[in-house]
Amino acid sequence: MTITGKTKVAGVMGWPVSHSKSPALHGFWLREHGIDGVYIPLPVKPENLRPALRALPMLGFVGVNLTVPHKEAALKIVDEITPTARRVGAINAIVVRENGRLSAENTDVTGFMMNLRLNAPAWDPKRGPAVVLGAGGASRAVCVGLIDAGCPEIRLVNRTPERVKALKKVIGGNIVGTAWDRRHDALADAALLVNTTTLGMEGQPPLELDLTALPSQAIVNDIVYAPLDTPLLLQARARGLTAVDGLGMLLYQAVPAFEAWFGVTPEVTPALRAHILGLT
Ligand code: ATR
Repeated sequence: MTITGKTKVAGVMGWPVSHSKSPALHGFWLREHGIDGVYIPLPVKPENLRPALRALPMLGFVGVNLTVPHKEAALKIVDEITPTARRVGAINAIVVRENGRLSAENTDVTGFMMNLRLNAPAWDPKRGPAVVLGAGGASRAVCVGLIDAGCPEIRLVNRTPERVKALKKVIGGNIVGTAWDRRHDALADAALLVNTTTLGMEGQPPLELDLTALPSQAIVNDIVYAPLDTPLLLQARARGLTAVDGLGMLLYQAVPAFEAWFGVTPEVTPALRAHILGLT
């Protein structure tokens, strides 16, 4: 990598930030396309988020991604927020405009939808109800994507009912709250099941869910990607269902931001997947 006087600089702000796969992801594309650009980890403490963001135009950054714990707090600091990001209630990508304004988006929504559409091409969002497990930040992006794509009903299953109510109020659409212990009943006639909880992730408790009641054409998507083949996806495949892993959402959410910063639309390829999966 050669850094010149014209190198475009982007990065990811988080606290901690060392776990982030984004530098490896964007770095892969920068090398692939021979772009004069860098993408660096930016460890920013929560109390420093405002000055760090406001300094970006002065330092000549083209933009940044935001990760935990900054995605919600940054909403109050940036200058422009897309309607989608406002409904999700969180931002993960900022573009520094030529006039110095900070323009923010939530690209998890498009990342989720692109991953599903490309890996389950037969799936039609309008075809039937979707069951979404979890009502945290990731769930909000998933629900906005599904509702905007015309999904007729979301059965939102969560352990804490208050979070479902809050999500319904902000996002709108036909979201039906479902108690966690009724999750099996929600599967009947569903066209899609998405796990947005942390259950099944390495180091977390397992997701206890029997997929028997799901119709044979249903799609199962786990947004957990560590491990890549979660017990939920293995169970889906054993039943002959289309199973979509969560790595794609991570990779596709990076596409629009890279495009905005560096002017090239990057591709999600098997080589990129292998590169990111190979990281320790
Ligand atoms: P993210 O921003 O990645 O979505 P989050 O906001 O911490 O993460 O949300 C985690 C989700 O996993 C929540 O829906 C959480 O349920 P609660 O809202 O009831 O906390 C869900 N979750 C975590 N552990 C769980 C468990 N043991 N049983 C059921 N749901 C669980």
